[in-house]
Amino acid sequence: MTALTLSTSGAASLRADAIVVGIAKGAKGPVVAPGAEAVDKAFDGKLGSVLETLGASGAEGEVTKVPSPAGLKAPVVLAVGLGPVPGKDDSYGTEPLRRAAGSAARALSGRKKAAFALPAESAEAVEAVAEGALLGAYAFLAYQGGENNGGGRNGGNGKAENGPKLPLGEVLLVGTKSRDKAVKAAADRAIALTEEVNRARDLVNTPPNDLTPEAFAAVATAAGKENGIKVQVLDEKALAKGGYGGILGVGQGSANPPRLVRLSYTHPDAEKTLALVGKGITYDSGGISLKPAGHNETMKCDMSGAAAVFAAVVTAARLGLTVNVTGWLALAENMPSGSATRPGDVLRMYSGKTVEVLNTDAEGRLVLADALTRACEEKPDAIVDVATLTGAMVLALGNRTFGIMANDDAFRTTIHELAEEAGEASWPMPLPADLRKGMDSPTADIANMGERMGGGLVAGLFLKEFIAEGITWAHLDIAGPAFHEGAPYGYTPKGGTGSAIRTLVKLAESF
Ligand code: BES
Ligand code: MN
Ligand code: ZN
Repeated sequence: MTALTLSTSGAASLRADAIVVGIAKGAKGPVVAPGAEAVDKAFDGKLGSVLETLGASGAEGEVTKVPSPAGLKAPVVLAVGLGPVPGKDDSYGTEPLRRAAGSAARALSGRKKAAFALPAESAEAVEAVAEGALLGAYAFLAYQGGENNGGGRNGGNGKAENGPKLPLGEVLLVGTKSRDKAVKAAADRAIALTEEVNRARDLVNTPPNDLTPEAFAAVATAAGKENGIKVQVLDEKALAKGGYGGILGVGQGSANPPRLVRLSYTHPDAEKTLALVGKGITYDSGGISLKPAGHNETMKCDMSGAAAVFAAVVTAARLGLTVNVTGWLALAENMPSGSATRPGDVLRMYSGKTVEVLNTDAEGRLVLADALTRACEEKPDAIVDVATLTGAMVLALGNRTFGIMANDDAFRTTIHELAEEAGEASWPMPLPADLRKGMDSPTADIANMGERMGGGLVAGLFLKEFIAEGITWAHLDIAGPAFHEGAPYGYTPKGGTGSAIRTLVKLAESF
């Protein structure tokens, strides 16, 4: 992982491979943002016009590199666009800072050390810059660069052997009040959070032949030990004994058997318990209702919900939050085979309800249902499940926004607002009661599919059937933002993004 250091000294005297400054889009060309005064001075106050000559405008995500003049120790100044200049009494928002820091960190991959002189006065701004830089510096190299790479640094030329560039080695936040308690805490929070987001990204990006349910459970067990989290793993035998028909039904077609993992972080002074439930389909082929080519290449991402829950519990533990957080990872591989569940089969779920499986590709709701019923038994103060659940939610909200459904309007609003604070795009979605009857089954208590229209909401209504009376519950459908197929932007890399983790951590903190 990229290292982060706070420094009180100015940018000019620092030895680094580059100095990062911010520029905003003004009415008359780029405006050098606060934090870069010393750098601008080394340019005789002409940094803005030099950048304009080079075509810079200050637009969000724009990166312009300039050789340093005498007076700066670092050889290169990298100007990153922050978007529009904030209003008179406003400061730069946290998300523009996060994105700019991320774009700069990505542009500096292969370098050892960069000094960031972005407008980061407040603890909140320091945290945003730190988060953006550490998330933007992410790279998944474990499977590139020849057999000697092993994902590690070679420490030499800034490249993995024969492979792509290594991420930026060290981020130095300059001009920060590094002895200020709040600033220090903000940096520590950013380090813990981004390390766990990046670990979740690694899990999502790990190919499904390596990240089986068993392998995922082993990662969770090891991380639990390291962070004082209690971990329990139910294997296929324990699942059969316990009557987890949903998880077993989805996993029974695969040579890699399913798991249910319970992670429990507790604090002695905690007054409340938050339960998090994650969909952990390590690969979703669709099962007997096989997905066509073109729809299955990225389905290693179908465990992103479980990865998010795992990361959130570990982060809560690392931050020592005064709340109990229980994480449930519903892990299975959805494969077609002679032992697979058939369309038409009826499963007896952990709750005792029966489900007619009309489409084996609607598997996420089956594993989640069992985990939700189990989570409800412990009567937590609230449950949030996270899942790459439906293509319909991607059609509704696009690739960057997750949907929030809930059985409690206030709770849904709270999560929406916390997501906004965390810099994650989300939108509240309804659970219209009229869509329930589409899941009526002539054979079982409910079918795992209903009307095609509003498919994301239908899935939410299915889950709602497994929430015990009186328990506050929300469902996050992250099918759009969990996995990024386009070009990287801001702090978002290609592949696994770590969607919803920052929101879940905010929620745990708010308890
Ligand atoms: N894992 C998919 C949903 C998905 C789609 C995730 C695109 C990420 C990107 C899920 O298991 C699924 O296949 N859902 C079906 C449900 C349908 C059969 C009722 C869908 O959305 O098509
Ligand atoms: Mn599916
Ligand atoms: Zn799925």
